[in-house]
Amino acid sequence: MLLNTNISPSIDLKKDHFFDHKAKDSYQEYIYKASKQVMSFLENKDFYSGETAANLRAKTNLLSVSNNVTLTIDEALEEVKELYLDHAISFHNPNYVAHLNCPVLLPAIVGDVIASSVNTAVETWDQSTSATLIEQEVIRWISTKMHLPSTSDGVFTSGGTQSNFMGLLMARDHYAFVHYGLNIKQNGWASIISKFRIFCSEKAHFSIQKNSALLGMGYDAVIPVKTDSLMKMNPNELVIAIEKEKQKGNIPIAVVATVGTTDFGSFDPLEAISKIVKEEKIWLHVDGAYGGCYALTKTHKHLLAGTANADSVTIDFHKTLFQPVCSSVFLVKNKKHFKYVSHYADYLNPLESKDEVYPNLIEKSIQTTRRFDALKVWFSLKMTGEKTIASFLEKVHFLALELYTKIKDDLYFEVIHKPELSTLVFRYKEQGIEDNNIHDAINLYIKNTLFKSGQASVASTRVDGKIYLKFTLLNPVTEITDLMRIVDMIKEKGQSYKTNN
Ligand SMILES: Cc1ncc(COP(=O)(O)O)c(C=O)c1O
Repeated sequence: MLLNTNISPSIDLKKDHFFDHKAKDSYQEYIYKASKQVMSFLENKDFYSGETAANLRAKTNLLSVSNNVTLTIDEALEEVKELYLDHAISFHNPNYVAHLNCPVLLPAIVGDVIASSVNTAVETWDQSTSATLIEQEVIRWISTKMHLPSTSDGVFTSGGTQSNFMGLLMARDHYAFVHYGLNIKQNGWASIISKFRIFCSEKAHFSIQKNSALLGMGYDAVIPVKTDSLMKMNPNELVIAIEKEKQKGNIPIAVVATVGTTDFGSFDPLEAISKIVKEEKIWLHVDGAYGGCYALTKTHKHLLAGTANADSVTIDFHKTLFQPVCSSVFLVKNKKHFKYVSHYADYLNPLESKDEVYPNLIEKSIQTTRRFDALKVWFSLKMTGEKTIASFLEKVHFLALELYTKIKDDLYFEVIHKPELSTLVFRYKEQGIEDNNIHDAINLYIKNTLFKSGQASVASTRVDGKIYLKFTLLNPVTEITDLMRIVDMIKEKGQSYKTNN
């Protein structure tokens, strides 16, 4: 039977939609036009258009990808503007002070465009060549900042949650191997693991509990340790918590110390915790997703000296190195521990081809196909430089302190901590009202009305059962006058609550 080689006569290979040598002109044109359209996003005055979810959902013609109509680059860019760029949240806008999203550096964007265009996948040498070396160099650079020894190594991950996952996985598998000869990777679950316990501050990120559940140990394996008045883990409480669990027949395997808690930016005392961990002979994971990059600064580097004692560390460059998402690293003091995640696949990285000269980064990662996220960091360090980045971090810290000084004695506010990093948690207080439920309602009203109107985005959180507002400052271009304008808006909304409710 003859094969019909003309099965798809409608394909137009001249359309230049592939990135290849024929498409140089189109590549330049598309990237140029795309960057022009992105500039329209930079012209948005507010941090958000304030468009409702219902109105955005109603743009069904724009949303739909199933009507089989293909567009030109100009038409597609017009649609992306109307559907997305006009309503995207601007993290660079001074009125955005909600979550841990940073404005990004231009060199990082350039690095990202190059990495996406070339589409390097960094899992094996034969897909990545010098991209592997660039990732290794960035890992070496940050490991040195974290005071980790030459036995250390690391890998880029999708974020702090995944980096924390790797820390807990290694802690679990290492303890099981050393104390019970168990090989969880090979043989799976053993009943003794249900007694394993992980200790972290009550202010630690929820990913510790979530990852414990994903690793089969459950939320209950995570023991929250009380914090002191500065929101830092209290080492005496850690000792008490460990003893209590031992008395119940449970087995402490790890402590997670947070350097830069999500809400308060507080640093757990690494030196004191390290001593306890050493005595207990258990794993120390340091969650530096938020505060890790402050090792570059003069103001905070002393608080991170104790990372030298960590078995593993999480750092998010997409929070505090001004990188686009995703950009996070997981570091481990003894690179041999990567054996708990390594796998050798015949088609990809066969064990017999293992070679130090041609390394396959997949041996250190829980992902297989993986983006070349190190390039944007490399570009930023080359062009902006670590000293300037450190000064940005110091600036946002001082900004948080200045805001604290300005509002701490204001009768309309209750401020519950002095910022150690770049967040401020406080709440609006209506004079003469003592009922916390009313204050909760007012503060949520303030947050929601500011967001919906596109005026400002402020976060909220719950502390001791009460709702508070939170400023997270990651934009070094922001000035105190910008923040005080938001403070005035908060007061105005707070005062209008009664009228509108
Ligand atoms: C302290 C801390 N750890 C971990 C994470 C999780 O990081 P990611 O969102 O990159 O997964 C966060 C996120 O805010 C965090 O604040």
